[in-house]
Amino acid sequence: MPRVVLGVAGGIAAYKAVELLRQLTETGHDVTVVPTDAALAFVGAPTWAALSGKPVSASTWDRVHEVPHVRIGQEADLVVVAPATANLLAKAAHGLADDLLTNTLLTARCPVVMAPAMHTEMWEHPATRANVATLRSRGVLVVEPAVGRLTGKDSGKGRLPEPEELAHLVRQVLARGSADLDLAGRRVVVSSGGTREHLDPVRYLGNRSSGRQGHALARAAVARGAEVVLVSSSGLPDPAGVKVLKVTSAQEMHDAVLAEARSADAVVMAAAVADYRPAERLAVKRKKTDTLDVEFVQNPDILAALVAARGQGQIVVGFAAETGDDHATVIEHGRAKLARKGCDLLVVNEVGESGHPTGFEGTHNAATVLGADGSTTDVPLVTKDALADVVWDLVAARL
Ligand code: C5P
Repeated sequence: MPRVVLGVAGGIAAYKAVELLRQLTETGHDVTVVPTDAALAFVGAPTWAALSGKPVSASTWDRVHEVPHVRIGQEADLVVVAPATANLLAKAAHGLADDLLTNTLLTARCPVVMAPAMHTEMWEHPATRANVATLRSRGVLVVEPAVGRLTGKDSGKGRLPEPEELAHLVRQVLARGSADLDLAGRRVVVSSGGTREHLDPVRYLGNRSSGRQGHALARAAVARGAEVVLVSSSGLPDPAGVKVLKVTSAQEMHDAVLAEARSADAVVMAAAVADYRPAERLAVKRKKTDTLDVEFVQNPDILAALVAARGQGQIVVGFAAETGDDHATVIEHGRAKLARKGCDLLVVNEVGESGHPTGFEGTHNAATVLGADGSTTDVPLVTKDALADVVWDLVAARL
């Protein structure tokens, strides 16, 4: 059972850490909660103790014979601090050790994830910026806060990401088994979901893409330290630490991806982009007729546009769902597509039979990743999270 320390600092978002604790214990983690005194003013020790099944204290003076200020950190496989307040970030950046949590942070040698939550002004203050930069330079994974409703009536950047997404990120870091932030300082753009091409205000043409593989790619890149932009037409929840731009149509996705790609080190097009859209989008609902004639026009090929516009050293990755036929195998079709599209890597999926666990709606995927350098990487049936890590391994090796 992976041993996780859940550090909780004194912000109102401490109430969301209760749900994070629940998610982690439900998915088979042994969790020790280490709150600060201020956190206990928001959520009391009995709540943490009951849900973790362990004694809870903020102090180094309880159970001293067990030397908790050293043992808890040493024994951990991962430490996650959620919420991390401005005060906690400052103390951690400067190596202070005046309570159990700050002591634990100094003795831990495992991956450390911090999910800051505070008002926008505090997050943007030069002191906090400097503390975050210091922590990141030491290999701490500091997750970008979400944008949205804050404590009061105001909203902005500074929200704690949703507990389910934080739990997923924790599992991803643990699964990789390394605190190696090999994408730190890199900016990556990922697309996800199937586009919707509207016929009128009510109806659209779409496809079966769930967005799961693209979301997994975004989450995996966060876990490796990247700054991540996700351009998505999927309805899945926003992954923790990711800037999400919602789009609907292929044209909107084209505009957003190309704008974001200008300053990106890598772009991964996992979205299922419609090749055609209705020539005309009616402003009012189409009336029922005996037959329906719709003229279609071609959408821009985003991948081709990315390759044409790409800057020096930028890595471009495409996806291709293929079936074999009488003329060529799936891989031969993939090789031809890689050459045609001009990208660096092409993740080729064999489109499964209906009900097959790979591809569109499932949680798993199998693929062959083809490189423009002639390389071939076979990925057997694995989770979409694991396939995402293989893709980033290949991207990181080319950056
Ligand atoms: O040519 P095909 O649609 O099979 O290529 C698939 C790849 O191209 C995917 O990475 C998809 O995201 C991308 N694509 C695109 N723009 C389109 C169609 C597909 O970028 N209009």
